[in-house]
Amino acid sequence: MAQALMTETPVRADAGRFGGTPSIELRDVSKFFGQVPAVSGISLEVRQGEFLTLLGPSGCGKTTTLRMIGGFELPSAGEIVIEGEAMGDRPPYRRPVNTVFQNYALFPHMTVGQNVSYGLEMTGVPKPERQRRVAEALDMVRLPHVENRKPAELSGGQQQRVALARALVNRPAVLLLDEPLGALDLKLRKTMQLELKQLNREVGATFVYVTHDQEEALTMSDRIAVMNEGRILQLGTPGDIYERPRTRFVADFIGQTNFLEVEVIGSDGAAVEVDLPGSGPLRARPPEGVPAQGTMTLAVRPEKISLMADLPGSEIPGWDRLSGRLEEIIYVGTYTQYVLRLPGGQELAVHRQNRAVGEGEHPMGETLTVVFNPQSAALLAD
Ligand SMILES: Nc1ncnc2c1ncn2[C@@H]1O[C@H](COP(=O)(O)OP(=O)(O)OP(=O)(O)O)[C@@H](O)[C@H]1O
Ligand SMILES: [Mg+2]
Repeated sequence: MAQALMTETPVRADAGRFGGTPSIELRDVSKFFGQVPAVSGISLEVRQGEFLTLLGPSGCGKTTTLRMIGGFELPSAGEIVIEGEAMGDRPPYRRPVNTVFQNYALFPHMTVGQNVSYGLEMTGVPKPERQRRVAEALDMVRLPHVENRKPAELSGGQQQRVALARALVNRPAVLLLDEPLGALDLKLRKTMQLELKQLNREVGATFVYVTHDQEEALTMSDRIAVMNEGRILQLGTPGDIYERPRTRFVADFIGQTNFLEVEVIGSDGAAVEVDLPGSGPLRARPPEGVPAQGTMTLAVRPEKISLMADLPGSEIPGWDRLSGRLEEIIYVGTYTQYVLRLPGGQELAVHRQNRAVGEGEHPMGETLTVVFNPQSAALLAD
């Protein structure tokens, strides 16, 4: 990772997996509901077979974007192209797309088999082929032997898989998923997340996935589009988004981040020197797309910061160093969060892995020194 952080063009984990014409293109797409802008000028290319996630807070326009791709809403402006064809005002059933909604929306009076087979019947697929494809789709979602049951006789996770099978049975080029795991308990969600990701690889369809759960987005996606107020703020691999957030919103929305107001002093190309009031000079990674000048925000994640006392070699040349008074200790299981009060009054959260029981405990009020690699400290303009 450190290597990728230093290079100008980050190495993509997905290099070579995607190619050819984009599966979906949004060209400057906007949507107004009356006077209310729900989506404001989104441009996006989704690659063939890609797992792309739209991530953002409630009301930021994720569902509206997905519904426009599916044809359930028409854009107020802009164009949507799927598999090289402009969609115009084409209705949902004439797009090479299937949608899975949050509520499974299965027909309760039909068996699982009938539910999955429904779309094929509508398009006039003959019965023997229907039967074969229904069995195949249920196999794909790892649900054999339930064809004759009613939805009510299945668990929530199983019902969700039936909904998936129903969407997959038409072999769509594009699968749209709107918070499909929202109703499931945490454990089942985790299992289904892995299964969905695996399914994406197996069937080769393009997946556009909507969630407001950042962890879900990080674990499942090839790329994530972080949205806020109808716009895409940043598009990149989970590693890009997490390690190189470009704005405070993105750094704040995904994971936990310390934000410190600093003044830029100078730059030597590889790093920018800044002053943190009360603590003195620090070095940080140069900002992306904006000049390093004036007052900026230094963003550093708690897990990138180490207690000096935990590092055996003690002197780490070139690393940033801060000292503060220990004001809060929160035990979180895999790690403990320490909150330090810096001399200038700012708070700094530090995550310390709980490697061994009772390892080097520190009393409240103790002054602790912490260090971090300047490449882990991002400078943001806002
Ligand atoms: N049919 C509609 N009529 C009027 N306003 C709408 C309609 N659908 C959505 N909106 C508004 O558009 C904005 C975006 O809504 P959208 O449903 O796309 O958000 P979302 O990102 O999916 O949120 P959530 O995470 O809560 O599902 C919101 O302000 C919402 O109130
Ligand atoms: Mg929504």
